[in-house]
Amino acid sequence: MKILVTGGAGYIGSHTCVELIRAGFKVVVVDNLYNSSIESLRRVEKLVNRKIPFHKVDIRDKSALTEVFERYSIDGVIHFAGLKAVGDSLVNPIEYYDNNVGGTFILTEVMRKFDCKTFVFSSSATVYGDPQTLPIKEDFPLIASNPYGRSKLIIEEFFRDIFTSDDSWHIALLRYFNPIGAHKSGLIGEDPNDAPNNLLPYISKVAIGKLEKLSIFGGDYDTHDGTGVRDYIHVVDLAKGHVKALNTLNDKSQVLTMNLGTGNGYSVLDMVKAFERASGKDIPYQIVDRRPGDIATCYADPTYAANQMGWKAELDLNEMCEDAWRWQSKNPDGYPRDK
Ligand code: NAD
Ligand code: WQD
Repeated sequence: MKILVTGGAGYIGSHTCVELIRAGFKVVVVDNLYNSSIESLRRVEKLVNRKIPFHKVDIRDKSALTEVFERYSIDGVIHFAGLKAVGDSLVNPIEYYDNNVGGTFILTEVMRKFDCKTFVFSSSATVYGDPQTLPIKEDFPLIASNPYGRSKLIIEEFFRDIFTSDDSWHIALLRYFNPIGAHKSGLIGEDPNDAPNNLLPYISKVAIGKLEKLSIFGGDYDTHDGTGVRDYIHVVDLAKGHVKALNTLNDKSQVLTMNLGTGNGYSVLDMVKAFERASGKDIPYQIVDRRPGDIATCYADPTYAANQMGWKAELDLNEMCEDAWRWQSKNPDGYPRDK
């Protein structure tokens, strides 16, 4: 099976390319390199010992995307391409709707033209807003409180509408919790362009000495130590979830909506301690005001994904932190940015 991976040079996309190729899939990547470097794919090639066809294409460019579909016989698409910073989406909503929603519309038009109807989408736990109870199940109410989250919800609804109109599609909507960590080799990992927004890349940059200290957003949440609790999942487990999703979709046309998380919740202070253990470095921090829009606690019930596709996260918190640290310490400046 030949899979088009949009955003395949990015953090989750590059790790997924490795797992896809190891599982026997053929991969073609399109990415506009807005938030990534081609070096990530060169390193994926090194890891799998194979060339990966890459096209620097913006998914909103319909004719360029059409050329890719003309050139390769694409059987399915895993769609990572998009913008992902919640705070930025509040400042630049037009860009988020244009890229995430508009880009996905164009991609599906091209897919339909080529009768390609297998689609795996990167949704997010953000679609649950602030849940009433825990752990979070897939049938919980959906609510988005920022343009980024709304773009994910709109796309989910869009795919449900597509399936209602044509039930020969095979669609997986995967709601990721908090992906962290890196490939064991230390060759690929997360390399944010700007100052990191997410916790783990921030902690990593403090540990390597590029940032002075971590600001912990809120110490008065109703959690075991007052700091926010999240379901951190190793990016390689997440990547394997995409392989499982494709194999599961292969059997049956359907819309599968699944949480990809571990089911465990760790606080910010738990994460600081785990990273200190893994890296042997001190992580100086100060507790500051809550970040607007944050919730106290969020963790998945991952049972549905286990039942539907036999997938379960396997790597624990120590491995997540050790692998993140290996990547950070071997690549203190991330990937070279010669695009
Ligand atoms: P990333 O920024 O590393 O990867 C996204 C890739 O898409 C980048 O390489 C970027 O250059 C590319 N891209 C962006 N717009 C594009 C366009 N118009 N055309 C072509 N390429 C484009 O992000 P990631 O962390 O790997 O996230 C991948 C997907 O998973 C995103 O859709 C994101 O919203 C979703 N997601 C991420 C997280 C997370 O915490 N990382 C959590 C939930 C969901
Ligand atoms: C985790 C915890 C913060 C940074 C976001 C998106 C979500 C998904 C994953 C894309 C929280 C605390 C963080 C810092 C801190 N992305 N924190 N200091 O907010 O759970 O989820 O990324 O889809 O949609 O909303 O992740 O890593 O930003 O925060 O104290 O410098 O760490 O308050 O409790 P979040 P995060």
